[in-house]
Amino acid sequence: MTEKLIEAIGVTRHYKLAGGRVLRALDGVDLAIGRGATLGLVGESGSGKSTLGRVMVGLQSPTEGEIRFEGLNAAAADPAQSVRLRRQRQIVFQDPSGALNPRMTIGDTIIEHLRVQGWSRVEAREQAARVLDDCGLSASFLSAYPHEISGGQRQRAVIARAISTDPAFIVADEPVSALDVSTRAQIMNLLRDLQRTRGLTMLFISHDLSVVAHMCRDVAVMYLGRIVEIAPRGVLFKSPLHPYTAALISAIPLPDPARERTRRPILLKGEPPDPSATPKGCRFHTRCPRATDLCREVDPETRAFSSAHMAACHHPLTQAPVERTIA
Ligand SMILES: Nc1ncnc2c1ncn2[C@@H]1O[C@H](COP(=O)(O)OP(=O)(O)O)[C@@H](O)[C@H]1O
Ligand SMILES: [Mg+2]
Repeated sequence: MTEKLIEAIGVTRHYKLAGGRVLRALDGVDLAIGRGATLGLVGESGSGKSTLGRVMVGLQSPTEGEIRFEGLNAAAADPAQSVRLRRQRQIVFQDPSGALNPRMTIGDTIIEHLRVQGWSRVEAREQAARVLDDCGLSASFLSAYPHEISGGQRQRAVIARAISTDPAFIVADEPVSALDVSTRAQIMNLLRDLQRTRGLTMLFISHDLSVVAHMCRDVAVMYLGRIVEIAPRGVLFKSPLHPYTAALISAIPLPDPARERTRRPILLKGEPPDPSATPKGCRFHTRCPRATDLCREVDPETRAFSSAHMAACHHPLTQAPVERTIA
């Protein structure tokens, strides 16, 4: 990997529920994203994707573990470093309507975001016009209110606000899920262009593996608060190791009708378990077609099967593990 920009090390995030129960939204996540890389994060609803996104940008603190940005533990940052960390890490949420103040113009929304980060009014105004232009919106959108523009334009405005502080790292949390099918491709292309032209490092979150694979060179698969497999997308599709990944891949329709007729989706038993009652042993064993007594007892460690391919499974689908090379 090129220089690591951001890392999650042993990150957990617990929520206390009524009755003293603890919900483990993140349950031991290790992850590193190289500068300029795009990592896709896929998993069913409730698997902890948004929580990981919020923890990575510092909107929430981990319960245990560390987020390191350029090697600096975010929790140990001094005030000046904290300001820099906020500028450098930004997030785009799923629903652009909820992300924008309906009573503020798009221009004021971006200007306020920059003013909080210490920009002067004049600089903030210039930057707002510049980033709107970068996101395909003319300067006339500065004075538009959110309700006056389309959903796709609102998401462009939200993305403009996110890039306005010139961040190095962006989390895009299901950025097209709330949009019309017709505008999804445009917003994905915009994100890809920005990623390329600005050298952004991106964590792109989706529940849809085909969307993630389209956007990102590397893909991480999340299940019940843990990353169960991570690999370059081509490797993941060709030789998935984790039965959960194989099931996700098998659910994607194939464009070729002849091949689509022979596609056999792997159907998983039941619903994902409640994250406040994570199964003993391998967290996937209750739904896994390959589960054995070992899986019911022992939580599998994450092992490296090649330098960039890791999986946490006692009975992976192919290959023997090699020495673990990525921390
Ligand atoms: N503030 C919160 N309080 C309690 N539980 C939460 C909170 N936020 C998320 N959760 C729970 O954490 C789990 C992971 O949620 P989330 O990160 O939103 O998953 P995803 O984005 O993959 O759908 C879910 O079971 C969700 O209900
Ligand atoms: Mg989510």
